[in-house]
Amino acid sequence: MTASRLSHALETGALALPAGPVALFGPPPGTDLSAFPREALTLVSHDAIATAAWQAAGYAVTRMPTGPFAAALVVLPRARDAQKALIAEATALAPLVLIDGQKHDGVDAMLKAVRGRVPITGSLAKAHGKLFWIEGGDFADWAGVPRDIGGFVTRPGVFSADGPDKGSLALVAALPPLKGRVADLGAGWGFLARHILESDAVTALALVETDAIALDCARENVPDPRAAFHWADATRWRPSAPLDAVVSNPPFHRDRSGDPGLGRAFIAAAATMLAPSGSLWMVANRHLPYEAELDASFREVEAVADTGGFKVIHARQPRRGRR
Ligand SMILES: C[S@@+](CC[C@H](N)C(=O)[O-])C[C@H]1O[C@@H](n2cnc3c(N)ncnc32)[C@H](O)[C@@H]1O
Repeated sequence: MTASRLSHALETGALALPAGPVALFGPPPGTDLSAFPREALTLVSHDAIATAAWQAAGYAVTRMPTGPFAAALVVLPRARDAQKALIAEATALAPLVLIDGQKHDGVDAMLKAVRGRVPITGSLAKAHGKLFWIEGGDFADWAGVPRDIGGFVTRPGVFSADGPDKGSLALVAALPPLKGRVADLGAGWGFLARHILESDAVTALALVETDAIALDCARENVPDPRAAFHWADATRWRPSAPLDAVVSNPPFHRDRSGDPGLGRAFIAAAATMLAPSGSLWMVANRHLPYEAELDASFREVEAVADTGGFKVIHARQPRRGRR
């Protein structure tokens, strides 16, 4: 999407890219970046999975770009305050900033908000989205600031930034005190992790999370020496020794589209991480089809709670050698 709007703007001469280094904030893996000379590009991502994919494709990726850059391109994420934070970061680093987004992610509203501060140099609408660009402007007050939501710190764009997720609350209500070595897959900003560590019998807790911003929040929210923080894809991460328990409120969508395959991959991964006596505690929306994967990965599966549209599952006896 980005690529077609960008190449159109370049081909029609509406936009001319200056020579020099370019920072790209948040392009989804697979985006065609051929409009840019590869050696000029620095990709900026806080997602472990996107970072690994871009690095495997031979691109330089960083979380903290230092610049200066001749230009920056921001691919708008979904959350409005995360969009603003990226625009603040990009405009502080480059004199020309291109902003690209889909209609359903609110690109028109963002264009309006930006135009309230600085003239729009150019714009192009195509393929259910818009690319527009600006030169200069002070967006420092849009920078992403941490928020305190009742004793937890969150930052713009992280999952459930306004307060604990209902599914996670249902899981916490049903979870007995755990013991031994535990992992929280998709740990977010640490809501479940802090609860898990209330049990003194837990000796170690691995928080595995792909979003580095969420993981930074978790570091602040879970200041416990038993906690270890892993910026990684939970479906690929493996513990150094088998675990006694895995806890998870798995993600159920990528971008805007629901993807039960992601939750299934979490279940299968959990089974490979556990000791034979270990168990998985997870929560899911009641309608999500996880039963077949649970039965394929564990010998005993029990729904221990079914409340407010969520089911809490306790799965034991991971099947060996399935994968
Ligand atoms: C439903 S949220 C739960 C967050 C947190 N455990 C809580 O209860 O608030 C799922 C989390 O998984 C993360 N996530 C998504 N895909 C992931 C993956 N492949 N590996 C690790 N984390 C992932 C998301 O960024 C999100 O923080």
